[in-house]
Amino acid sequence: MHKLHVDLGLDSYDIIFERGLLSHVADYVACDGKKICVVTDENVAKLYADDVLSSLKKAGYETSVIVLPHGEKTKSFDVLPSVYARLLEEKITRKDALVALGGGVIGDLCGFVAATYLRGIGFVQIPTSLLAQVDSSIGGKVAVDLPQGKNLVGAFYQPDVVLIDTTALDTLPDYYYSDGMAEVIKYGCIRDAALFDALSACKGGRIAPDKQDEIIYRCCDIKREVVEKDEKDKGERMILNFGHTYGHALEKYYAFEKISHGMAVAVGMCVITRKAEEKGLTKKGCAEKIESVCRLFGLPVSDPAPEREVVAGVVNDKKNLGDKLVTVLLKDIGESYLYPTNAEFFADER
Ligand SMILES: NC(=O)c1ccc[n+]([C@@H]2O[C@H](COP(=O)([O-])OP(=O)(O)OC[C@H]3O[C@@H](n4cnc5c(N)ncnc54)[C@H](O)[C@@H]3O)[C@@H](O)[C@H]2O)c1
Ligand SMILES: [Zn+2]
Repeated sequence: MHKLHVDLGLDSYDIIFERGLLSHVADYVACDGKKICVVTDENVAKLYADDVLSSLKKAGYETSVIVLPHGEKTKSFDVLPSVYARLLEEKITRKDALVALGGGVIGDLCGFVAATYLRGIGFVQIPTSLLAQVDSSIGGKVAVDLPQGKNLVGAFYQPDVVLIDTTALDTLPDYYYSDGMAEVIKYGCIRDAALFDALSACKGGRIAPDKQDEIIYRCCDIKREVVEKDEKDKGERMILNFGHTYGHALEKYYAFEKISHGMAVAVGMCVITRKAEEKGLTKKGCAEKIESVCRLFGLPVSDPAPEREVVAGVVNDKKNLGDKLVTVLLKDIGESYLYPTNAEFFADER
């Protein structure tokens, strides 16, 4: 077992890493109440809900489970009333807890429900996708989508504990593994050249089992450090958005249908770094290095959409004020900085 402590004063919590943890999660769950409701999706439920529920039952908790359809549509504001209704039916009180068992969709939705039901109840994150293990389960950003856009209603609500069992990744489809790898590569780019080199040395496809756990731990440690310095995303935390400004614009350009988040972020990291190199803002050669690691893990490095049109959406990104754009650039692999600019940065033809 390995542990990281996220130090956020009264909202501090541990991230526990243990292979096989899913069969005895109750060892790490401390809930004042008697009841625990597990929220999950249909894919993850089939694989892991029995283990989690039986561990909690053995520990004496009264359990219930809410199984939702898989996919981003589940993270919709419209899904909330039925979830709150189930919690009321189960007579879940403020002392009780919710467990998010699944990928980022379940973590974000369940976290938002935990933050708002009865003004906030206990919340445990058990992330099962690579993206959720290295990114979305840590940091307390919880949200649901509106028809007008993603993550438009949300909160900062830290979990009580995050439980990471990397054996769950064995059943994660390759497509989603690749998708999560974009965030792993991002951590190497912004903070850790050694991590980036370790990824470059991989054979590709998936990280070899003997390296995977260490790499996931390192990613969580980087996210921990950044979140501790800037819990509410007002400054330092912005470096986690490397590749995301252009990535979000690309997701939006395709109306969130044709390209997934990780794929879009991979393209975004490559586009911004190529641009920055041309302008002398990033050391030459970085873009090529990022491209080759992305290719290793099945991620795209460019997209046929015209940059000028994609960028028209950048200025509407909610993370930017007016038409001012703060973007994240690399000095070199492993070293990032914030660079205030505007949409023109992306718009000149290459
Ligand atoms: N809160 C944050 O800080 C943050 C950060 C990044 C992304 N996100 C959000 O995360 C969401 C995307 O998360 P995601 O990529 O995990 O998507 P997801 O939750 O849809 O999971 C991807 C797919 O993998 C399946 N799955 C998950 N774990 C599995 C396993 N172990 N075995 C087999 N199948 C499994 C799911 O059923 C789903 O079909 C988006 O909504 C995004 O906005 C949030
Ligand atoms: Zn991301």
